[in-house]
Amino acid sequence: MDTIETLMKRRSCRAYKVGKISEEHLHIILEAGRYAPSAGNTQPWRFVITRGSELKKEVAVACAEQHWMANADVILTGIGVPKESRGHGDWQWYPVDVAIAMQNMVVAATSLGYGTCWIGAFDQQQVKQLLSIPPEMHVVALLPIGIPDDTHDAPPRKSWDLLFSGETYGSPLAGS
Ligand SMILES: Cc1cc2nc3c(=O)[nH]c(=O)nc-3n(C[C@H](O)[C@H](O)[C@H](O)COP(=O)(O)O)c2cc1C
Repeated sequence: MDTIETLMKRRSCRAYKVGKISEEHLHIILEAGRYAPSAGNTQPWRFVITRGSELKKEVAVACAEQHWMANADVILTGIGVPKESRGHGDWQWYPVDVAIAMQNMVVAATSLGYGTCWIGAFDQQQVKQLLSIPPEMHVVALLPIGIPDDTHDAPPRKSWDLLFSGETYGSPLAGS
């Protein structure tokens, strides 16, 4: 699928058909994340790929009981490594770095015909315990990936006028 078409067609998918992501496709999706940019190329990330049905169900419970997640073939957990991260003062780049890598995976998965959904509603400690994630690491988000069984239109977007300024903040963007 063309990249722009992929970006416009992607929707958050909350229903999945029984079926597997091929190993070849999973490799491509993960590789798309591995090649994401990161601050100073620190790559302060790890990813857990959960495919076992019982563990997926437990992870879904730890994600505010979003049980539908367990129907996806894969639940991918994106983890930040603060000690490997660039930052300034209190600011750390690792949540941004992990999010960019995960969005690369979303785009790759969409392009290959799979459904995904960003999951930000989860219990940090429960997910860490279920997946044996070391205490010094930090779960950033989760991502079910699977065969989509959900088609819906895009939810409304904020207007161009609100979002985009020309030259300085609040000035109209010419030609839009
Ligand atoms: C950081 C983040 C966290 C999100 N958390 C959840 C979530 O826990 N559960 C869920 O169903 N959708 C979640 N979403 C998906 C959003 O609801 C969705 O992206 C938004 O409604 C726009 O719809 P679209 O993705 O279909 O364009 C999350 C999205 C982002 C970016």
